[in-house]
Amino acid sequence: MARMQPKSIAVFNSNDIYPISADATLPFEQHRDIFYLSGADQEETILVLFPDAIDAKHREVLFVRETNEHIAVWEGEKLSKEKATEVSEIQSIYWLSDFDKVFFDLMTEAETIYFNTNEHYRQAVELQTREDRFIMACKQKFPAHGVAKSFPILQEIRGVKEAEEIALMQTACDITEKGFRRLLSFIKPGVWEYEIEAELLHEFVRNRSKGFAYTPIIASGNNANVLHYIENNQQCHNGDMILMDVAAEYANYSSDLTRTIPVNGKFTARQKAVYNAVLNVKNEATKLLVPGTLWAEYHKECGKIMTSELLGLGLLDKADIQNEDPNWPAYKKYFMHGTSHHIGLNTHDYGELKTPMKANMVFTVEPGIYIPEEKMGVRIEDDVVIQESGAPFNLMKNIPIEVEEIEELMAK
Ligand code: GLY
Ligand code: MN
Ligand code: MN
Repeated sequence: MARMQPKSIAVFNSNDIYPISADATLPFEQHRDIFYLSGADQEETILVLFPDAIDAKHREVLFVRETNEHIAVWEGEKLSKEKATEVSEIQSIYWLSDFDKVFFDLMTEAETIYFNTNEHYRQAVELQTREDRFIMACKQKFPAHGVAKSFPILQEIRGVKEAEEIALMQTACDITEKGFRRLLSFIKPGVWEYEIEAELLHEFVRNRSKGFAYTPIIASGNNANVLHYIENNQQCHNGDMILMDVAAEYANYSSDLTRTIPVNGKFTARQKAVYNAVLNVKNEATKLLVPGTLWAEYHKECGKIMTSELLGLGLLDKADIQNEDPNWPAYKKYFMHGTSHHIGLNTHDYGELKTPMKANMVFTVEPGIYIPEEKMGVRIEDDVVIQESGAPFNLMKNIPIEVEEIEELMAK
C-alpha cells in the first residue's frame, strides 16, 4: 500500500476452479497474489486495498463467499467472517454478495484503480481468468478512473522473501529430501518411472505436502534429453542414469530439486565425469549469487564455466569456441536452458530480473549437460537464498549430491 498512488484502490481476485466436464473440476489452486497478501486460500475471494479510504475500516477489505450449513455439509468448513479475519488479520470482512454495492461506494472516493495483470516473463496464458473478467467489467463500469499496474509492485516485494516464507520453503525442501532419500533404496534396474513417482507422492503427502510443486520429470536413460519429459512411463534399465526433477510443495510454497543418479547404484567412469562437470558448474555458479549480481551477467558467467567443463569432457574443442556465434554460444548445444530462476509461491516465481540481486531472494541453480549421442542427460538443481554477504544459503544442503554419497546410500 505504501507504493500506491494517492487516492488509488487495488483489487485482487481468487482463481477460478477449473472445470473438466460434467460436474468434475480440478482441485482449487489459489492465485498466489491474493494468497500472499491475505492468506485467504479460498475460491471466490476478493481483496480490496484502499489506503486513502475516508472510512479507515475500508483501507483493507476482504470479500468471501457466504457460507452456510448446507455448504458446510457438502463441502466442509469455509471461511466464516471470524475465520477470515483470523487468517488475514483484516478486520473488514464482507460477503461476496455485497461486493458490487460496497465497491461502487469505494470507487466514488478513488481516482485510480490498480489492476493485477499477469506480466510474468514466462506467462503464456490463453484462458480468461477471473481477474481478467473483473478487469473487463470494471473498465466498462468505471471508464473515468485512471488505471495502474499491481504487477511491478508484487514482482518486487514477492521477489524478496520474508523470514516466514524462507522457513516454509525450508520445510518444502526438507519434505523433498525425505522423498529423495526414500528413492535411494528403491531405485534399481527394472523399476518403472511411475513407480518412482508413486513413492515420492506417498512420502510428500504423509509429510503434509499437497503433493508435487510442479509436474514431476522422471526421466531414465535417453528420456533425460527431453527437457519437459513428464510421461514417466518407461522402465529403468541397468547401466542408465535417471534424471529426476521432482519436489514437494508446502503451504503453497514450492521447492525445486533435480538429482541424476545411476539406476544400478554405481556411476560408470563416463557418467561420473559428466556428473561432476555439472556439479562443478553448479558449485561455481552458486558462488556468484550475491547482492549486486545482474541476472544476465550471471548467465554469461555460467556459460563460460560450462564451456570450460565441456572442453574438459571433450564435447567441445577450441575451434568450436573460436567459431561460436555470440548469440548462441557453443555450450548451448549441450546446455540449452537457463541456470536459475526465482522460486517461492510459484516455482518460476515473480522477482526482478533486470535490477541487481538482493539478499533474501531465493533462486534455483540448475545447470545440465544433455548428450543425446550418448543417450544420457545430467541436471543437478538446488534452491539457495542470497545472503547479505558471503555465499548463498543452500536450502537443499542436506540432500545427497556427491557421487560417493549417492553410491553409498544406494548400496544400502
Ligand atoms: N522443474 C522446473 C524447473 O526446474 O524449472
Ligand atoms: Mn526443477
Ligand atoms: Mn527449476
